[in-house]
Amino acid sequence: MSDSSGTQMGEKEEKSPDGVKYYRLLEIEEQNTFKSTWIIIHNKVYDVTKFLEEHPGGEEVLREQAGGDATESFEDVGHSTDAREMSDSMVIGELHPEDRDKITRPEETLVTTLKDEPSWWTNWLIPVLVAAIVTLMYRIYTG
Ligand code: HEM
Repeated sequence: MSDSSGTQMGEKEEKSPDGVKYYRLLEIEEQNTFKSTWIIIHNKVYDVTKFLEEHPGGEEVLREQAGGDATESFEDVGHSTDAREMSDSMVIGELHPEDRDKITRPEETLVTTLKDEPSWWTNWLIPVLVAAIVTLMYRIYTG
């Protein structure tokens, strides 16, 4: 059975009612190269390629978010109103409404380090046991 329909969504440009260009998540993910860097903040798509070197927070942090959702990182930093106004000039469109719930959220990766330390008590229990055994043997030999 061959699938000859060949329908490729995304070939045609999609726009919102007020003329904003919609980008699919896949398109945005592809813009994660040395030539071009796009990020998503609050469902808006930003082309930060030319801004990388000027960014006061450094280009590395922007590259790390390239092709994905940077909303949390952007808000965590507590960017100033100036920074927000600057960012307006880099908006090139919006994330397609159908892709908005597909963006990966980083919360899930944060939680695993602090629990599961069952060995803290062995740090003192073992020396105490050893000391007790040594004392006992000493008593047996000398007693
Ligand atoms: C278009 C997007 C962005 C613009 C226009 C922008 C702009 C700025 C500006 C103007 C500052 C100086 C401080 C301020 O005015 O708030 C700044 C600092 C900073 N930004 Fe961004 N930023 C953007 C995105 C991001 C993202 C996505 C991240 C994190 C991944 C980030 C991380 C930082 C950090 C760590 C600082 C340094 C804060 C400090 O030293 O106190 N920025 N940014």
